[in-house]
Amino acid sequence: MIELRDLRPDDADLLYAWRRDPDVRRWMSDADFPDEAAHRAWVERLAADPDRHGWIITREGSPAGLLTLTGLDGPHRRAEWNWLVGDAEARGRGVGRAAQVLGLDRAFHELGLHKVFAEVLADNDAALKAQAAAGFRREGYLPGHVLMAGEPRDVVLLGMTAEMWAAKGDAIRAPLLQAKLISPRS
Ligand SMILES: CC(C)(COP(=O)(O)OP(=O)(O)OC[C@H]1O[C@@H](n2cnc3c(N)ncnc32)[C@H](O)[C@@H]1OP(=O)(O)O)[C@@H](O)C(=O)NCCC(=O)NCCS
Repeated sequence: MIELRDLRPDDADLLYAWRRDPDVRRWMSDADFPDEAAHRAWVERLAADPDRHGWIITREGSPAGLLTLTGLDGPHRRAEWNWLVGDAEARGRGVGRAAQVLGLDRAFHELGLHKVFAEVLADNDAALKAQAAAGFRREGYLPGHVLMAGEPRDVVLLGMTAEMWAAKGDAIRAPLLQAKLISPRS
């Protein structure tokens, strides 16, 4: 079963290990990888700042990944989606797919957002496929949008509105419920 729980400051060590994993880090566009102190400040802010929210994705109760929404305080009820499945053994097994449904439900039903968007490196096939499968719409292609190790990299802009999720969410949720990867919404 895949679930989300709120991020806690004591998740910092595990998150630091995940963020340092080359298989995660190569897809994260934070320009420079933070040192440990900057990482801890980032986790504390994620746990406390009303402008952002972080959830640990759990798999059978154990931490498997991280999902964040940033920009919650802005005037547009729009937030940026970022996520990773940090437990390498859990990748490619539907954890991301299930976490997306849970995260989009939180975004639109609990946080009352109007829109969620994501900037994904254009060669990140796993993220692009997973997000397309959840109904994210490709809204733009941004050439040379980020610098990674000093090199310009292209980015795909993805978006999902509350209206889109209301129309598509049940169909995307159904196979995950059937596979018992998630439980019904209460
Ligand atoms: C992107 C990520 C979060 C997806 O989570 P996941 O648990 O691995 O994905 P799932 O197992 O739920 O797969 C969902 C879909 O993604 C696609 N996918 C997953 N892994 C893939 C891979 N290695 N290559 C291509 N497509 C892949 C598949 O289409 C899959 O659908 P399917 O099961 O119907 O085939 C995860 O792979 C990850 O953390 N990657 C490293 C960090 C990262 O890229 N984060 C996103 C930054 S924008």
